[in-house]
Amino acid sequence: MIFKRKKVNLDIDKSKLPKHIAFIMDGNGRWATRRGLPRTVGHNEGGKTLLKIIEICNELRIKAITVFAFSTENWERPADEVKFLMELPSKYINTYLPKIKEANIVMNFIGLIEKLPNNIKNDINKAFEETKDNTGMILTIALNYGSQDEIVEATKKVANECLNNKLTVDQINKEYFASKLMTYNLPDIDLMVRTSGEIRLSNYLLWQLAYSELYFTKKYWPDFDEIELKKSLIEYQRRNRRFGGLKGE
Ligand code: IPE
Ligand code: IPE
Ligand code: MG
Repeated sequence: MIFKRKKVNLDIDKSKLPKHIAFIMDGNGRWATRRGLPRTVGHNEGGKTLLKIIEICNELRIKAITVFAFSTENWERPADEVKFLMELPSKYINTYLPKIKEANIVMNFIGLIEKLPNNIKNDINKAFEETKDNTGMILTIALNYGSQDEIVEATKKVANECLNNKLTVDQINKEYFASKLMTYNLPDIDLMVRTSGEIRLSNYLLWQLAYSELYFTKKYWPDFDEIELKKSLIEYQRRNRRFGGLKGE
């Protein structure tokens, strides 16, 4: 247990929980600006929210959560903010890796990790190596991630296999293509939650969200908490997932 928490009594059906939840942790900057604080303070608070959400999802026995930490487009931000955001993963890994290990969580990363500076790559590899044999929740951090790039990279892999006669064009199908994406080892995403009131995907998991339930809340990420998470789960449990059929009609 990392944080002390008050008990939250919201009625969720523990037998109908999503297996995999994706989060777009948005609104850190506005949370800080509203308080007259530098945006970086918002990112720090956002980090604390992430720790709490990891802990709660783990307690609920959610199989996987994937969080958007830095997009390929976020390099457009001022250099000092980019620097601060890039230092956060190492800070958290160095402080919380023992707790993550103890909680039996696997730490996984998606994104153009090889393009990141060596010190960050080393910390990421350490976190992955030291947790990869754990059997609990898979926590995937999307860092320097962009879904369009991911799809292009997967396409190149498949095209090369065809060129090298390892694969015929007819053998390409949805399952095969998905196995070439960075999320190849993760279950389908059942629920996607975006905070901060923006109603868009911002180049996040475009392929993987094809049949996910989408949930948007106006709360800024630093204000997202156990109650807000449980509200999203209750809403998820109310949805009728039809997958193109007529289930539940
Ligand atoms: C999300 O918060 C964190 C990152 C994108 C890294 P923002 O920094 O986007 O906060 P807003 O949207 O500007 O409020
Ligand atoms: C998406 O948020 C990326 C992350 C949360 C890391 P942004 O704040 O970058 O998205 P836009 O610019 O509002 O679409
Ligand atoms: Mg934002």
